[in-house]
Amino acid sequence: MRLHVADHPLIAHKLTILRDRHTPSATFRQLVDELVTLLAYEATRHVVVTDVAINTPVAPTVGRKMGKPQPIVVPVLRAGLGMLEGMTRLLPTAEVGFLGMKRDEDTLQVETYANRLPEDLSGRQCFILDPMLATGGTMVAAIDYLLESGARDVTCVCLVAAPEGLAEVEKAVGDRADVSVVVAAVDDHLNDHGYIVPGLGDAGDRLYGIVD
Ligand code: URA
Repeated sequence: MRLHVADHPLIAHKLTILRDRHTPSATFRQLVDELVTLLAYEATRHVVVTDVAINTPVAPTVGRKMGKPQPIVVPVLRAGLGMLEGMTRLLPTAEVGFLGMKRDEDTLQVETYANRLPEDLSGRQCFILDPMLATGGTMVAAIDYLLESGARDVTCVCLVAAPEGLAEVEKAVGDRADVSVVVAAVDDHLNDHGYIVPGLGDAGDRLYGIVD
């Protein structure tokens, strides 16, 4: 597993506002969108492009364009949905799949309630969107889904990760696939409730309000 912490003053600035408990939902959503676009720039550094011949107004030349198969972006519902727009802004030709996963807040076990992905992901570059990589349980389950469908090139885009979650992903993936994690920050630790400290609280609740 490769880890890339996107160390940039604009990212630090936006993340600090996100972390602030007084930041309202509307601002939070807007900042997540902006942050993801900045992270997407790093996350897509190895996206496959092919040479294409074009004519500029001045001369013929050879440029590079994204080719086929298109990458696939997989937001993990619910909170990952808040990252979709920011990612597809940079990757407008990407396909979008969905994984609905819920963490039981008592046992911290992951339950999958929706899966809308192509059956065959071999040869596809996959981007999983989930703002908080906490225990790693959800991310490992999401990666497993993609690997079971043949994917071997997976990039996880997260806002904040805990060292415990990163270790869990690293252990679970082993040498099965080329997995990268791109994050805005790696925080200190998880608390007893599985929340990232200092973190930013429950990302889904802060994006969409609390739903019981
Ligand atoms: N999920 C969140 O939304 N926040 C955390 O801190 C951990 C898991």
